[in-house]
Amino acid sequence: MTVAHFQAPNDDVLSPEMLTAYDRDGVLVLENMFPATECEALMTRAGELVDAFDPGQASTVFSTTMRGQDQDNYFATSGGTIRFFLEDGVLASDGTLNRDKSTAINKIGHALHDLDPVFDAFSHDNRLAAVARSIGCAQPLLLQSMYIFKQPGIGGEVTWHQDSTYLYTEPLSVFGLWVALEDATIQNGCLWALPGRHREPLRNRYRYIDGVLTTEVLEPTPWPDDDKIPLEVPQGTLVLLHGSLPHRSDTNYSDKSRHAYTLHVIDGSCEYAADNWLQRPGDMPLKSF
Ligand code: FE2
Repeated sequence: MTVAHFQAPNDDVLSPEMLTAYDRDGVLVLENMFPATECEALMTRAGELVDAFDPGQASTVFSTTMRGQDQDNYFATSGGTIRFFLEDGVLASDGTLNRDKSTAINKIGHALHDLDPVFDAFSHDNRLAAVARSIGCAQPLLLQSMYIFKQPGIGGEVTWHQDSTYLYTEPLSVFGLWVALEDATIQNGCLWALPGRHREPLRNRYRYIDGVLTTEVLEPTPWPDDDKIPLEVPQGTLVLLHGSLPHRSDTNYSDKSRHAYTLHVIDGSCEYAADNWLQRPGDMPLKSF
């Protein structure tokens, strides 16, 4: 099995063939959606944010002596902010970073699309809005954004998951817009997917139970590794991911980074779960494109 790769449509409206592929596979690959200059502008902006980032706070949060509650809070309250999350293994025993901060950060999240002018402009672009419309999202709301570094040598593995596990609505509606800011290859930790298995039920929910963020197992069967397909894509590719599609990525053991920017969008006509991990502050309502 393979996943079809398409060239981005000229008018940004998905063709019937693209919609058929997305419906069949739960993933759609659109190459040359964004020019290199645009990808590089986002990378430059992420670099500026990292330059301005004081690792002191995050180092404290992520240090081994402070594990648990503080780390949970730093994550759990990040839905309406811009926060920096460190890779595993980048803290020395004294709590300082054991490498330059520019190579120690796993990701930035989760409201870049609302709070940073550069990512705001990119995220609310007409091209992305047209894709969302094409797949029938009636009232798109931009819920979550992440800048993922997948650092050379250490960029951490992400295990099999469905995005609706984390961003649950009734009925299910979340989808991911994943933008390759650099070439993504098997070597530098590209996405892998199980095409077609977005039709299967949700296997986990990550939600508050009695005030504690908990992974609720709905179906304990592990996703099979056998049928996985690598999504090796060049810079500028948009990968559209159905919220029920199982996907993962490996540790980046190569010497090349694999930067990506990802947005998660829900349909405002669906009910956003009050027990989801991501809860926005009351004064930050979700916006459309
Ligand atoms: Fe994901």
